[in-house]
Amino acid sequence: MERESFKSSFGLFAAAVGSAVGLGNIWRFPYITGKHGGAAFLIIYLICVAAIGIPVMLAEFIIGREGRKSAINSFKEIAPNSKWYLSGVLGVLAGFLILSFYSVIAGWTLEYLIKAITNEFAGKDVNAISNMFTEFTSHPVRPIIWQFIILAFTAYIVGNGIEKGIEKYSSILIPALIIIIIILDIRALTLPGSKEGLSFLFKPDFSKVNGKVIFAALGHSFFSLSLGAGTMITYGSYIKEGENLGRATVNIALADTLIALLAGIAIFPVVFAFGIAPNSGPGLVFITLPNVFPKLPGGYLFAVLFFLLLSLAAITSTISMLESVVAYVIDKFNIDRKKATFISISLVFIVGIFASLSNGPMANVPFFGRTFLDFLDYVTANYLMTIGSMISIIFVGWKLDRSMVKKQITNNGILDVGYLSLYDFVARFITPILIIIVFISSIKGLGV
Ligand code: PHE
Repeated sequence: MERESFKSSFGLFAAAVGSAVGLGNIWRFPYITGKHGGAAFLIIYLICVAAIGIPVMLAEFIIGREGRKSAINSFKEIAPNSKWYLSGVLGVLAGFLILSFYSVIAGWTLEYLIKAITNEFAGKDVNAISNMFTEFTSHPVRPIIWQFIILAFTAYIVGNGIEKGIEKYSSILIPALIIIIIILDIRALTLPGSKEGLSFLFKPDFSKVNGKVIFAALGHSFFSLSLGAGTMITYGSYIKEGENLGRATVNIALADTLIALLAGIAIFPVVFAFGIAPNSGPGLVFITLPNVFPKLPGGYLFAVLFFLLLSLAAITSTISMLESVVAYVIDKFNIDRKKATFISISLVFIVGIFASLSNGPMANVPFFGRTFLDFLDYVTANYLMTIGSMISIIFVGWKLDRSMVKKQITNNGILDVGYLSLYDFVARFITPILIIIVFISSIKGLGV
């Protein structure tokens, strides 16, 4: 059977941007930027995207389009009888584990969308809103129901395949998301006092930078660009021969970064205009913003739009995590897509239930010193994705035949690209060395 593919360049772009743009951009990016001091973190993050993220994404697309299989089997296809496929195993495992905790938070966004629609933030003080968050997230059942709805919807889209599922829905959801974020930006920028928020985001203070901050920026660049999770390898396997991989990679990374910035621009001016600390952590969008919205002219509408934005962004990402797993299950057991989707999502849900419960009834059951959800977040973003990305880039830099890399980047000599030898050099030395330095400095506790 012929492998499915993304039918248009825009479809590929929308699907990959859909994967990349998610809670990582709108929930995680603002709060870790806030935590690590704003603009200085942003600059390091941008360097990570350019010097590490873009080369790794291109490497993953190359592996996928060359192997034409799931993340694990693409390695097996290109380098049979070797252990390189273990990198794919890490990736698919990361995709699975990320989905099981990400779907919990994606579920919260739906609850908050409903709360926004039913105007529940109005008339509540800071304590009430903060209690509302704790009460909901620690509830034994409610978050799990929302998580189930997210997973069911994700499974529905993935079950419909690449063109009729992922490509079709991403092509609708991504433009919708961009329109919503621009509306929110206009609101934020027209608030009196918005300047302070902007200078927090754009005026660097390098005294806050240390090894820990750099490691966080690196981990976040993998997370935000969906690297090291099998996703981009799997999506690469659906890219048609004629697509320009280098150009697609740069466009996707730019769009992801731009949307993170637009999210920052929508959030920080609001936070500053109301005198709230920008470093309030994961609660930033679930506690801080609901606090502010009712005080904002037009706040009801903007609250609804904001949580709608968050849930749409989350869903275009959850489908890509599931696809990484489903593609492997199809390869491995040779079963049809719908069955593979059902099996995969059921397993994710079982693990995901524990992730959800770890905010409530199981909060006191430590998992290597963290709650289960925090543990999954920490291990995937900092280790599995970093190691998986590292192996992918080394594979393309050192193991793949140069002619194969050239074939993929130039589409068999049709495209005249000037950066081939630069890419070779970066993939062999620059990117792996940077990853190793950041990784070791974080383990050695440089400022950690
Ligand atoms: N990139 C997504 C985000 O920013 C998260 C993600 C990670 C998606 C890994 C797919 C795979 O939210």
